[in-house]
Amino acid sequence: MNVERLNPDGIVSISASVTTGMEDVAATEVKSKILNTSDKHAVTAKQGRVYFKATKKSLSDLHSLRSVDRLYLVIHTVENYVYPESKVAAEEDLSKLASSIDWDSVTQFWRYNLPYLKARSRQEDLGKKPSKKRKVKESAHDVLAGDNSTDDDESGNPMNGSHKHDDIPIEMTALPIVESKAPISFRVSTNRVGKNQPITSPEASYKFGGKIQDITNWKVDLTGYNLEVLLCLGLNSLEVTLALTLQSLHRRNITHFGITTLRPTTAYNMLQLCDIQPGDVVIDPMCGTGAIPIEGALEWPNNFYIAGDIVKAAAKRCRCNVEFLDENVMFGRKFIDKTNRKNLLLDTIRWDTTNLPLKSSSADVIVSDLPFGKRVGSKVDNRKLYPAILQEMARVTRPETGRACLLTQDKRTIIRALSALNQFWTVRKTLSVNIGGLTAGVFLLKRTKNSVQRPHIDEHNSAD
Ligand SMILES: C[S@@+](CC[C@H](N)C(=O)[O-])C[C@H]1O[C@@H](n2cnc3c(N)ncnc32)[C@H](O)[C@@H]1O
Repeated sequence: MNVERLNPDGIVSISASVTTGMEDVAATEVKSKILNTSDKHAVTAKQGRVYFKATKKSLSDLHSLRSVDRLYLVIHTVENYVYPESKVAAEEDLSKLASSIDWDSVTQFWRYNLPYLKARSRQEDLGKKPSKKRKVKESAHDVLAGDNSTDDDESGNPMNGSHKHDDIPIEMTALPIVESKAPISFRVSTNRVGKNQPITSPEASYKFGGKIQDITNWKVDLTGYNLEVLLCLGLNSLEVTLALTLQSLHRRNITHFGITTLRPTTAYNMLQLCDIQPGDVVIDPMCGTGAIPIEGALEWPNNFYIAGDIVKAAAKRCRCNVEFLDENVMFGRKFIDKTNRKNLLLDTIRWDTTNLPLKSSSADVIVSDLPFGKRVGSKVDNRKLYPAILQEMARVTRPETGRACLLTQDKRTIIRALSALNQFWTVRKTLSVNIGGLTAGVFLLKRTKNSVQRPHIDEHNSAD
């Protein structure tokens, strides 16, 4: 097998997982923050992944990306691979592949990455539910979308959203950094695309991992590992990568969870689509635990955010998340405007989105994750709810410049509602995204120039 040598001190290939359907949004962030280019060929998008070149100097910036979940160093790729018919021959190929890789260079890059490598929590390792004690408690419904980590969803993207809840904990307190002097303990995780391979994922991990151990003398530890090699058996390709993150980058911001807490990475991508400008008033009128406005207030800090929800417990959870960040994260954080602000510019409120206590044309951007009609509400309810909220959202956003980015799995209902309200909203872009195994839609909307009146509020305002 012809293997291109990995040069850990030179240019390397990086791959990052992202919510499937949001690859182009992640590519935009990578191009502006890592590559400093607008060249559209600088980042390649594949389902649930983006690929680009970087150097070890970019490691700190890579780990600060907001749109992606996991980072990998691409060690080797075999394109146009034809699987042999027998399992024995396939195992032989994997042994040859492992022997042809320069594991010293892989180790060197792993060491460069060590300062950024946060240890996995023990429960993540074991794939267990959090104990009652450890969980930051709010209600019996509080669960966290989890991640079994090796096991990407069908997109190759581990834990692609939080409408799927695997009940695995998050740790908001900084996780220990992997000990730099610790001996390497590793695991191989195999992901198989399709079923054409003559070898199963565990068999491939066993064979490939066994060969790596023969070559490197690394200790195998399937749960307490500090180095993870991923082997992807594609339809007609093989890919070997080194995990640069042991826990997903979406594990941030939220300490008080709800049943449909959205990943902050997905929230970031929705916000990024709205092209938020300094001073914009940004509203999530159905905020749940506040994943969207919190991510906004942290990443676009020179704006005012309003987070509202009809359910008291949800608004309270959102408030608790904001307070936790104010007390634990904001201290000393320097913002773009050079202030040393100690709190997020975010207010939470309990309200009904069909009847908002706001002046017409008073908001610039609405970003929201609507009830899908599965865990929250029902598809029947949505038929009434969606037209009512879209009308009210149109009223409070500024004609011509107002934007909205809405996520829902109930695409049929939102499309019908939008076509009935096309005098107020134009659909700029739709993305089909994978949210925890559900195919959902992201709808990027722009306000038309037509204003919407709501008599009792607008008449009162004009009388002032
Ligand atoms: C999909 S969840 C939002 C989850 C949220 N993005 C998060 O990260 O936790 C939808 C939310 O809409 C809220 N909701 C439903 N109907 C509402 C209404 N008429 N007004 C305000 N909020 C509403 C629900 O209480 C629920 O919290």
